[in-house]
Amino acid sequence: MILLAVQREVVEAALERILPAEGASPVALTSAMRYSVLAGGKRLRPVLCLALADVCGFCGNTAELAEVAEAAAALELIHTYSLIHDDLPCMDDDSLRRGHPTCHVVHGEAMALLAGDALQTVGFEILSTRPRGPAHVGTRAEAAAMVARAIGVDGMAGGQALDLVETGRTHEGEEARTLLRQIHAMKTGRLLAVSASLGALYAGAPADLRREVERYGDRLGLLFQIADDLLDVTADTATLGKTAGKDSAQAKLTYPALFGMEGARAELDRVLEEACDAAHAVEGRDGILSALATWAARRDR
Ligand code: IPE
Ligand code: IPE
Ligand code: MG
Ligand code: MG
Ligand code: MG
Repeated sequence: MILLAVQREVVEAALERILPAEGASPVALTSAMRYSVLAGGKRLRPVLCLALADVCGFCGNTAELAEVAEAAAALELIHTYSLIHDDLPCMDDDSLRRGHPTCHVVHGEAMALLAGDALQTVGFEILSTRPRGPAHVGTRAEAAAMVARAIGVDGMAGGQALDLVETGRTHEGEEARTLLRQIHAMKTGRLLAVSASLGALYAGAPADLRREVERYGDRLGLLFQIADDLLDVTADTATLGKTAGKDSAQAKLTYPALFGMEGARAELDRVLEEACDAAHAVEGRDGILSALATWAARRDR
C-alpha cells in the first residue's frame, strides 16, 4: 500500500528520535533494543494511528505532527517488546523474526527479556510526554492509560497468558470459538484497536466519531490475527520472515485449527466486512481505512 510505504518513512524517522542512540550505555541492552526494532516490520500500529489522526482531521502544526509521530512510534516499541517476549523459549520459542534471528538468539535470553522491558517503558515515557506542552496534558494522560489497559491483564498480556494456557489442549464447539475470538482480540486486537483510537484522540475527534473508530479498530485487530493464523499455514518462511508452520507444530489454538482453512477464511471475510462497515461510518465512503483493512486481510506477510 502506498500509504503504508509513505507513512513508514515518517515512522522510521520518529523511531530513530525516540530509541536510545547507537552505542548508548548500557550497550548490551540498547543494542538488543535497537536490533529488534530496526530489524524491519510493517509498522502497522503507528501507521494506523497516523492514518486515523488524518482521517479524523488532525490539524496540528509541524512540531505537533512530529511529536504525534513519536507517540505513534512508541506503539511500535511496545509492539516490538511483545514480539521479543513472544519469541522467548518459555513462550513460542521462535528463532526467526522479521527475517533475522530472534533477539534472544543473538543477544541472549536475559538481554532479550530486558530489551522488552525497556522498550515498554520507553514507549510509555514517550506516550506520557508527547505531544508536548500544557495544552495536551489531558490527552497525554488519556493516551497512556488507554495503552496500558490495551496491553495489560484484559489485553495483550492477558491474551498471551490464555494463548499459552490453551496451547496443546483439545477444543471444539461454540465455547471454544468464543474463547478463541477472545484470545485473539486480547493478544493482538487490543493494541491495534488502541493504535487507531489514539489517532482519533490526537485529532481531537468528538465522542461519537471515537466510538466508530473503536469499532473499526476492534474489527481490524481481530482480522489481523486471523490472517496471521492463516499465513502461518499458507506462507513460506522467507516471505513471512518468521518460521512458517509453527502453530500446528506447537498445537496452538488458531482459526485454521478450530474452523478449518475454509471456515477460517469465511470468518476472515465476515470480520473484514464488519471492519469495512465501521470504516465507512468513520470516513463516509470507501477510503483509506477500508483499504487498510482489506490490505491487512489479504496481505502475504
Ligand atoms: C506479528 O505482528 C504478531 C501479531 C500480533 C500477529 P506483525 O505482523 O505486525 O509483525 P511485524 O511488526 O510486521 O513484524
Ligand atoms: C503474537 O501472536 C501476538 C503477540 C502479542 C506478540 P503470534 O504468536 O501468533 O505471533 P507471531 O506469529 O509469533 O508473530
Ligand atoms: Mg504467540
Ligand atoms: Mg509467536
Ligand atoms: Mg502467529
